[in-house]
Amino acid sequence: MSVGKSSPVGFFDSGIGGKCIEAAFKRLCPAEKTVYIADSEHCPYGNKPKEEIIRLAESCTERLLAAGCKLVVVACNTATAAAIDHLRAKYRSVPFVGIEPAVKPAALESRTGIVGVLATQGTFSGRLYNETKAKFAKDVTIIATVADEFVTIVERGEVDAPGTETIVRKRIEPVLAAGADVLVLGCTHFPHLKPVIEKVAAGRARVIEPSEAVARQARRVLEERGLLA
Ligand code: DGL
Repeated sequence: MSVGKSSPVGFFDSGIGGKCIEAAFKRLCPAEKTVYIADSEHCPYGNKPKEEIIRLAESCTERLLAAGCKLVVVACNTATAAAIDHLRAKYRSVPFVGIEPAVKPAALESRTGIVGVLATQGTFSGRLYNETKAKFAKDVTIIATVADEFVTIVERGEVDAPGTETIVRKRIEPVLAAGADVLVLGCTHFPHLKPVIEKVAAGRARVIEPSEAVARQARRVLEERGLLA
């Protein structure tokens, strides 16, 4: 299908997590149309084998291309880690934008030299995260924390439920106690819990999440290709 300026921008994630990226993109580019796939049927991606995530990412991409998308935003850290190299190699004419934990700005901001990164096991095992960490965070200590229960809370719509703060506190308190003064939300489900995470971390750590940066990158790619609406 041929695409043009009026074609939509596609987003996919294992669920509703990546909606925060779509929302940031719409704030930045209100004239753009978007298509969002929440692959909730296969959620979570975080602990699935790489080959399976590649297959699921391919299926989401096919559906977005069939909907005429001019750009595919992989709005999931785990899917980016497992599949973006494969997607770029397979769909050569399609521009892709991915997301990875914002380790570089966190390393620059930290005063204690200790940074907490919250993400899935799949993201922590990926090439991108490990290369970025080796390049930009070799002088800081990173506390890598898998927080799969946050994904469940968001998918169930329990962000404001009475027990949520306790669950968040249980996961984050040890990271704060270890001296982390920056927390990186390295999974697109986690920004939905940002108010709770910020409440727990108040006065101790700053919370970083890269939705706005990914939105700006998507706009840049559209501009470069003359595809901005
Ligand atoms: N939203 C996905 C990410 O950014 C992960 C959620 C899941 O485990 O499916 O990594």
